[in-house]
Amino acid sequence: MQHQQRRILITGAAGGIGRETALRLADQGAQLALVGRNADALRGLAAEITAGGGTAQALPTDLLDASARAGLPERARVALGEIDVLVNLAGVLSFCRIEDEDPDRLDMLLRLNLLAPMDLARMILPAMIARKQGQIVNVGSTLGSIGFAYFSAYSASKFGLRGFSEALRRELHDTGVSVTYIAPRAVRTPLNSAAIYRMAEAVKMNIDSPERVAKWIVAAIAQPAKDAYLGFPESLFVRINAVVPRLVDAALKGQNRMMERFARVSG
Ligand SMILES: NC(=O)c1ccc[n+]([C@@H]2O[C@H](COP(=O)([O-])OP(=O)(O)OC[C@H]3O[C@@H](n4cnc5c(N)ncnc54)[C@H](OP(=O)(O)O)[C@@H]3O)[C@@H](O)[C@H]2O)c1
Repeated sequence: MQHQQRRILITGAAGGIGRETALRLADQGAQLALVGRNADALRGLAAEITAGGGTAQALPTDLLDASARAGLPERARVALGEIDVLVNLAGVLSFCRIEDEDPDRLDMLLRLNLLAPMDLARMILPAMIARKQGQIVNVGSTLGSIGFAYFSAYSASKFGLRGFSEALRRELHDTGVSVTYIAPRAVRTPLNSAAIYRMAEAVKMNIDSPERVAKWIVAAIAQPAKDAYLGFPESLFVRINAVVPRLVDAALKGQNRMMERFARVSG
């Protein structure tokens, strides 16, 4: 079993991708600390895992609450022992023109998608470094490498998370602690609004199932590759955008016009 006995703290554990990921990790022998706000959903998931012979503890936490966040590493340590892997998966999304964005939501999005993962890594790393082993896993998005119109706040948060992952990996190069950045393309989960699904259909966007993405994520965690970009041709576009972004500008031009219609409706 690939994740046998690994103690894994996973945020966003009861979400669309999180739930499938947690179930697979538990199947592979991991012991899980499940984090999110919805205590019932987390406890239900923990009970399901335990009934299947696995180990999981629900640790309901609002990651936007700095003091609740500060207490999380110790709660996880008490529940499971020293944490081997931190999976930063909780996230929110916005689909609108930036001028239509609610300022409180903008603040919330950046704190949840970027600040909370950085802060959790900051708090959990010292014990990993002391033990000379550990893994920080940050779940980004294709939109963390290709800036998408009308997803500017979300793209900015995931670009930030990717930058953090790269810098942290270099910072930790000789410590025994690895950093894994995983970037799915669109996934069919409650993260995306009805307007996004209508837009995705109009522009023929590829959408994966959460089960498929969870399988990829669990495999990427098992081999701490530097970065994992999920899905083709999106993984190719990420490379092209890094080298010749003008080509991607041109390719997205027509799509942007269509997307704006849906972004205005949802905004
Ligand atoms: N779905 C996609 O198209 C897609 C594509 C690429 C990348 N991703 C990334 O994958 C990750 C998971 O997305 P998903 O599709 O599984 O979304 P989801 O189904 O909406 O789940 C999001 C999770 O985040 C948790 N969360 C939200 N606010 C929180 C808070 N303040 N404190 C603690 N937990 C909070 C939610 O739990 P509670 O509500 O219980 O707090 C939920 O479990 C995100 O980082 C997302 O950016 C998703």
